[in-house]
Amino acid sequence: MTRLHRIIEIQRILVDQLNVLETMTALDFLDFRDMLYPASGFQSYQFRLIENRMGMNPGQRLLYNKESYYAPLKQEHQDLLRKAEEEPSLLRLIERWLERTPFLDFQGFDFWKHYGLAVHDMLEGDRKTIIANQVSSQEEKDAQLREVTANEENFSVILEEEKHRELMEKGRRRLSHKSTQAALFILLYRDEPMLHLPFRLLNALMDIDELFTTWRSRHALMAQRMIGNKLGTGGSTGYNYLKATVDKYRVFGDLVNLSTFLIPRSRLPELPDHVRQSLGFRYSPGGNK
Ligand code: HEM
Repeated sequence: MTRLHRIIEIQRILVDQLNVLETMTALDFLDFRDMLYPASGFQSYQFRLIENRMGMNPGQRLLYNKESYYAPLKQEHQDLLRKAEEEPSLLRLIERWLERTPFLDFQGFDFWKHYGLAVHDMLEGDRKTIIANQVSSQEEKDAQLREVTANEENFSVILEEEKHRELMEKGRRRLSHKSTQAALFILLYRDEPMLHLPFRLLNALMDIDELFTTWRSRHALMAQRMIGNKLGTGGSTGYNYLKATVDKYRVFGDLVNLSTFLIPRSRLPELPDHVRQSLGFRYSPGGNK
């Protein structure tokens, strides 16, 4: 947690420093831009290393000049990056950790069945509220009811492994179904003592993902302000390339997406005593009993 918070603080500075750079006007930048050729951000192997260690999917990378992202880098750096692609990334380690969390074993209590029922009740409540609304027209109500049905479909992804697998095959999910369920459970029951630290860890990963995305987005806007639609010194389409990486290169998007499956605390299934007890901290003066 301490290291993750250090990373978060560094990322904040990285985003903030762009403000200083932006005090330079585009015309002033043109005075020396030609001197930069052929240097560019594409030469930063450390940036690529951070991406790979975080869990960037090599298959997701955008090609520029039909060349791999290795192309502008020295052989020794290419080797480092290949090695990092093969080693387990932070994303994969987090996935494994989530998959082996012991609290998914509810000892006879079918948590996901109860959660499914709570979701069903919540959505039925939404439907009743829409139908009883005296102000909306029938057309508006039909549109709102369709929204609820779409919402129901979204929820089915967390409950049905098959649907989750389909999204994984399309590259729209990175974490396994089991680890996604574990992460959702942590977010829902974070008030239980044993889950508090795991919750803070997941939250820190979401911060890192958001700050990385913020940097990409701010950097793309800054590049657009400086060079408009000109090509980058590294040979990419410049702003359009950078803008495309903002959404495409997210690593922990699955964690952020978990908010889709959150339900209000008041509707959360109550955990049986034996489960709650195993999620609490116990102190017994005579040692563990
Ligand atoms: C006037 C300021 C800047 C402009 C106009 C600019 C522009 C660009 C452009 C157009 C690219 C795409 C590659 C290319 O074709 O050249 C790029 C990539 C990159 N730049 Fe900058 N940049 C600026 C400042 C910075 C700063 C201050 C940093 C680091 C602190 C940075 C780090 C990077 C990195 C890491 C990449 C690779 C991004 C990726 O492939 O996802 N840039 N930059």
